[in-house]
Amino acid sequence: MGSVGETRGPPPFEPPIAVLKSQSAAIQKAIDQYEGAKTKDDKARAVSALSQASTLLSTVSTSPGDTVQRFAFQPVANGAVRVAVGMGLFNQLPIGKCATTEELASKCNSDPEFVQRIAPAVASLGFLQEVSEERYAHTDVSMILCDDTAQASLGQMLDNVGVTMMNLNNYYRKHGYKSPKDVNNTPAVFARGLKDIGYFEWLTQNPELYTVFNKAMAFHSLTGVEGIATSYPWEKLQPGGPDSITVIDVGGGKGHAVSEIIRHHPNIAGHAALQDLENVLADGTLVSPENVKVVPYHFLDEEQPIKGAAAYMFRHCLCDWPDESCIKILKNHIRAMRGYDSRVLFSDLVLSDEGAPASKTLRDINMMQCSGKERSEKQWHAMLDEAGFRVTNIFNRDDPMNSVVEAVLKE
Ligand SMILES: C[S@@+](CC[C@H](N)C(=O)[O-])C[C@H]1O[C@@H](n2cnc3c(N)ncnc32)[C@H](O)[C@@H]1O
Repeated sequence: MGSVGETRGPPPFEPPIAVLKSQSAAIQKAIDQYEGAKTKDDKARAVSALSQASTLLSTVSTSPGDTVQRFAFQPVANGAVRVAVGMGLFNQLPIGKCATTEELASKCNSDPEFVQRIAPAVASLGFLQEVSEERYAHTDVSMILCDDTAQASLGQMLDNVGVTMMNLNNYYRKHGYKSPKDVNNTPAVFARGLKDIGYFEWLTQNPELYTVFNKAMAFHSLTGVEGIATSYPWEKLQPGGPDSITVIDVGGGKGHAVSEIIRHHPNIAGHAALQDLENVLADGTLVSPENVKVVPYHFLDEEQPIKGAAAYMFRHCLCDWPDESCIKILKNHIRAMRGYDSRVLFSDLVLSDEGAPASKTLRDINMMQCSGKERSEKQWHAMLDEAGFRVTNIFNRDDPMNSVVEAVLKE
């Protein structure tokens, strides 16, 4: 017990100089690499190293108490940004000019007092620039958030996944702290007080949520779907089977990935297919019918109807499912394949066995919402082996969005 009047509390925060110096040297090194980078890939690598080193410097130079406090305030920050998008603050801000609180209030059907609470909050997070008192301009981030699909991506994460994540611990407290495997009782449906319904079935029953989900997936077109088109040697594939198909984007949503592949490899046009659930394809896609055949397909319940394609591609699909379901999906493809001339491609991430960055680890937690998971290389091998396939190559292994695991049928 301390005596009356004694000051209690944590010791003063003094980050070690040696660690600060080494992180600051890592930042300088990444800047030098960026300055000297000759190719687009070298530049991207240098920027990623810079971002990692500056995050580490920020971590070691923030006191543990402040780190916890900052983290605890994350839902509040999310709420402020969500409101800014919802009220149209970013869309109403003119591009290349600034606007006053009063002007924004009038354009957003709000009042200046309210704008003057939301705008400084989102500016303090880097989502707007506070030019002077009560005057705001765009930043690169707010410019992105004017895009419909970017707004959907935020909506999907905050309005949909957010509700699930706030209830994730309640789910595990009830079901046991174990990887979820029950596809009909996922953390997402549990968070809505429902049971015995699959994640995508639940989305189908809530078309407004599924629309936001599909748009959010299309946001990848803005932020990196190019990687799938450039990281895999598409030119080595020859169309085949009765439909003369080179690649099928299975579970491809609105088709932004297959469109990107065709943009980079025009010879694939006319030899590509897009498959997804009927309701997803029914209200239109991003592909042109001359280039891409659109075929509704339920990959868990039906055998693959398009025979002999060179590649059956699953982009960000198998991560939605536990191993048992993935094995079922893959077995539904075996009879359609033209033996070893066909391959299956998985554009998901490959978790590192150790030292995985948050960009990967959090994606794995995100997948818990639908009882899915991200997989490490060992887990990819094991799951594919059980389904009757063997991994032949992994392209772009470190990319959090666009690794490509290639597999063929086992002998
Ligand atoms: C995470 S999204 C990925 C979409 C797209 N491949 C991409 O990269 O953005 C998963 C996709 O799987 C589709 N899907 C879910 N269950 C399916 C099923 N049983 N059969 C076919 N597609 C399904 C969803 O509609 C959704 O488009």
